[in-house]
Amino acid sequence: MKKNLFQNIDVLVIGSGGSGLTAALEAKKSNVNVLVVSKTYPTHSQTCQAQGGINASREESQEDIQSHINDTLKGSHGLGSLEATKIMCQNAPKTIKWLDTIGVPFSRDKENKIAQRKFGAASKIRTCYSSDYTGLKILHSLYDNCIKEEIDFLNEYQLLDLIKENNKIIGADFLCIKSSEVISIFAKTTILATGGYSNIYNKFTTNSHATTGDGVAAALRAGAKLSNMEMIQFHPTAMKGNNILISESARGEGGYLVNKDEKRFIDELKPRDEVARAIYSKQIKNEEVFLDLRHIGEEKIDAVMPQERRLAKEFMNIDITKELLPINPAAHYCMGGIKTNVSCETSLENLYACGECSQVGIHGANRLGGNSLQEIITFGKIAGVNAANKSKSIQNSQSILTKTHKSVKNYFTQDSTINFYEIKEDMGRAFFNNLGLFRNEEKIDSLIIQVNKWKKDLKNMGIRDKSQFYNKNLVEFIEFKNMLELGEAVLLGAKMRKESRGAHFRTDFPVEKESLCKNSTIYKNSDETLSILFEDIT
Ligand code: FUM
Repeated sequence: MKKNLFQNIDVLVIGSGGSGLTAALEAKKSNVNVLVVSKTYPTHSQTCQAQGGINASREESQEDIQSHINDTLKGSHGLGSLEATKIMCQNAPKTIKWLDTIGVPFSRDKENKIAQRKFGAASKIRTCYSSDYTGLKILHSLYDNCIKEEIDFLNEYQLLDLIKENNKIIGADFLCIKSSEVISIFAKTTILATGGYSNIYNKFTTNSHATTGDGVAAALRAGAKLSNMEMIQFHPTAMKGNNILISESARGEGGYLVNKDEKRFIDELKPRDEVARAIYSKQIKNEEVFLDLRHIGEEKIDAVMPQERRLAKEFMNIDITKELLPINPAAHYCMGGIKTNVSCETSLENLYACGECSQVGIHGANRLGGNSLQEIITFGKIAGVNAANKSKSIQNSQSILTKTHKSVKNYFTQDSTINFYEIKEDMGRAFFNNLGLFRNEEKIDSLIIQVNKWKKDLKNMGIRDKSQFYNKNLVEFIEFKNMLELGEAVLLGAKMRKESRGAHFRTDFPVEKESLCKNSTIYKNSDETLSILFEDIT
């Protein structure tokens, strides 16, 4: 690590997934000092889970771009911002060209053009891909380029809290996972790119254990506004039982969803929320659902979805070229997050957000598969360039470097008679059952009571491992607290949105209401309670 690494940071990027790395690369172009801090390693991020592709009109055809805009807005069920959607879809062809030039090994068609496949709810074929490793290949190429540009990284540092002075964000406190020390990093501007919060569903998610909404929770505590927290996407096809993702590319390449009699029961490429509900409706009646890929043939499967074949074999001992694969829906993506404008500015000065932790106005109530990768690149760049420019107008304040660090000492002495790992499992199950694909007032209210009880019990849920070296128990406790905090926000959004819209399906209010064609905004009051309001779409 370089000496004085923590001083004179112009742009502090928190999170090293696709949006964070893109933001860092873009900020660096402005000749500013950039530091990326991450709790895992860059190649481990959730970006890898966007396996099937990235949406873009390949040529800069106005008609194709317009259809991308229309499909995205339709998918959002009225909650998408026209401005944000236009920015992303118009930029999409350039994104693909840029990714191609920085080394992403896109699959090619017979004419040697970047190959595209069909994805759900798309009126045209526009999902560019790199076999079924698209997110992973993009992530690795971005990281290679960050190394080439000599961007500084600090890995295995867990975000604790943002540092606020005079209502401006001036950096953040981190836990060094290796030593359990707390360090404060001061920066002129800060970009949150910390990913979603799907782990509130614990085992009922396709996401990695690290997806615990740390940045969203820190932003909430610092006073930032969150938006559409209740909008959680359930991916239709996770492997039954273990919830490992089977990419939408399986259906995009012609895979069928069938019941136990091997009969298809839905158009597999309908919007994700509809397909997921159709599957889950069968499963709550104890009917099994399978992905049938046998007719696609071994040669094509190995060419376009080798990862899915490998995962099914390794984790379920099923050969998808010959056998049916049992699947179920699982929480996959958070459409809500930190509210930003199209410049990626949050409601707090000098704090930017991009990627899944943010809500810029693209996905609304139902994200289209393939749009998340496009969003992270388009808005990652915007966040990087704007944070870098802003940093040039801010003077370095030496006085802030003397501030005392946040402490984690209390965690080492706190009572731990209640095992929070058990609560984390209970919480995941309860969220999936009560705040999953079908919700209603009664289920939401009973979960609110449960969450309040867990919050009360928190004081008895400390850590049992008291070591200072790589204390995973401590990291996981901090993550658990974040998830509990965000779970409360998700529940508030879900309770107050008394309608059904996209992924938020309420059996007691089964239709969309014109009066609720608005974004929910949640913020924390000084007494720690949450408030919610519904704001017009801009
Ligand atoms: O199914 C998938 O490949 C996931 C893609 C996405 O979430 O965009």
